[in-house]
Amino acid sequence: MEQGGTLEAIQQTIRQAATLDELKEIRNQWVGRKGRITEQMKELSRLAPDLRRERGAELNAWRESVLAALTRREEELVDLEERRALVHERLDLTIPGRRPEVGLLHPLTRVRRRIEDVFLRLGFSLAYGPQVESEWYNFEALNIPPDHPARDMQDSFFVDVPGLVLRTHTSPVQIRSMQRHQGKLPVKIIAPGLTYRRDDDATHVPMFQQVEGLVVDEGISLADLTGTLTVMAQELFGDGVDTRFRSSYFPFTEPSVEMDVTCAVCRGAGCRVCKETGWVEILGSGVVHPVVLENGGYDPSIVTGFAFGMGIERIAMRIFGLDDLRLLYQNDVRYLDTFQSGEGDGPGDFKSSLA
Ligand code: DAH
Repeated sequence: MEQGGTLEAIQQTIRQAATLDELKEIRNQWVGRKGRITEQMKELSRLAPDLRRERGAELNAWRESVLAALTRREEELVDLEERRALVHERLDLTIPGRRPEVGLLHPLTRVRRRIEDVFLRLGFSLAYGPQVESEWYNFEALNIPPDHPARDMQDSFFVDVPGLVLRTHTSPVQIRSMQRHQGKLPVKIIAPGLTYRRDDDATHVPMFQQVEGLVVDEGISLADLTGTLTVMAQELFGDGVDTRFRSSYFPFTEPSVEMDVTCAVCRGAGCRVCKETGWVEILGSGVVHPVVLENGGYDPSIVTGFAFGMGIERIAMRIFGLDDLRLLYQNDVRYLDTFQSGEGDGPGDFKSSLA
């Protein structure tokens, strides 16, 4: 071919084409609609018949062999491309998989649910009351006189409406539950919920959680209280736990007692968490004061009752051996993850966290 070199030269360019795009270019250049071989074939009609046949045969042969070379190179390039992709996109089936992040319940939620489970199995019902509470329910009805230290500005959060406070404990639900029962017996409830006090240090946060308990019926005694709460402690902390009751004072109970359990961290031997005593206090309780029964609409000459209240954070700290409660409320997932064994919040998992 005049201005294109020999057939050998064209074939060489084809063999050296590095990409399918390059190859397409070469195809257009020679055998495309405006390709040089194509153009010359169009010229054939202008030649004399003899010359036309000879030249036509020659051009056809060129065309055929260029097309064959193009096809061959195309196959090679496709093949090459595939092999490159195989190397590039190779899957390593031996790489360990990534574990999906599993969300689990907050440690405080798990502790609260465990406490609820124990009492629901003992036949208690759940009860709730408002977090913005009247001073009457929060204090007076519970036999807390106006000059009692618990009503001090230091302790309570007051709201703009006179006569209302953020409840400082779940005890007002005792009164509300008795009123709701309208004299029916027995009253046997627990009341979990948020409570508020103007406290903020390593072992106190301004918003915290309590579980209140109340049983009112004919013939309820202090023995029912100690029996029920001992069962609760065993269910919560395991059979190895010991309990003791110390006399105490609360305006809404008479007599009042506090329950201690053997320290979960040292199992009674004495350590930093239990201040070397081997015991930790977990709740306040007592026989319901007659004035409280009356305020709930019950006749203290006919019925008696026992009540108790515990801080969920306090119990969680004892279970998990924590000395800074605030960490539980900062909600840093890396910290919260250290509580998770991956088995959910079942009793087994919960008890194993005592070990
Ligand atoms: N309300 C008390 C507190 O917040 C706890 C408490 C003590 C509740 C004795 C009771 C009880 O029901 O009988 O500290």
